[in-house]
Amino acid sequence: MGVFVVFEGLDGSGKSTQARLLYEELRNEGISVALFHEPGGTALGAEIRRSLKSEEIIGITPVSELFLFAAARAQLVKQELDPAITQNQVVVCDRFTASTVAYQSFARGIPLEIVTKINEIATNGTIPDLTIFLDISPENALERHKSRHDLRKSTFEHEVALNVNKYGVGDSNNERFEKEPLSFHRKVYDGYAKMAKANPERWFVLDATLTPDALANSIKEKVKKL
Ligand code: TYD
Repeated sequence: MGVFVVFEGLDGSGKSTQARLLYEELRNEGISVALFHEPGGTALGAEIRRSLKSEEIIGITPVSELFLFAAARAQLVKQELDPAITQNQVVVCDRFTASTVAYQSFARGIPLEIVTKINEIATNGTIPDLTIFLDISPENALERHKSRHDLRKSTFEHEVALNVNKYGVGDSNNERFEKEPLSFHRKVYDGYAKMAKANPERWFVLDATLTPDALANSIKEKVKKL
């Protein structure tokens, strides 16, 4: 069986950059590795992502949002993740079930038992071997998030060039969640902090304000132990 590594954190925590760096590092070492970014990674996931980001679709309810993320995940797990893990690949995923717990339960207020159940159904029990939480304060994250649109664009173009991003995920900024008040992002943060504390054997918490190189080195060491 392969190894399943997930990156989690607030928007602006730098997790997409670190997921890509890990992917490139492992690939350069000749290790068979796949990179995904949720929601996305399949044709259905890309459509769901477009709907979630569409400016024409307004007023998506929290429950609708939960089901959309879950539908994208169910497709990704069945079609891409599980087969890659079975084929002994290292699978790196930018966001997974913990995002749903943090955003849809802690921040949007859907009861935790419901979100947990939906996550179980969507993943059919596939759980990350390691979740890397890039820890940054909501204030700091929002500041960073605002100034990184150009970086996202170049990351996207780079991924397309590498052909790791055939469904074109990560190509637009994230207005719906960006518009949420600081109190929303604080709840997301609290959700992540609680999960990390409750699962120290499967969660690796890193200070996201460290330099990208320092973070990449710590992550590389940790993942190599797996
Ligand atoms: P995206 O543009 O991919 O942002 P990021 O680079 O931060 O991942 O947008 C994904 C947004 O969707 C992000 O704000 C978090 C949110 N999200 C949820 O609310 N629930 C989920 O289950 C997932 C996977 C993401």
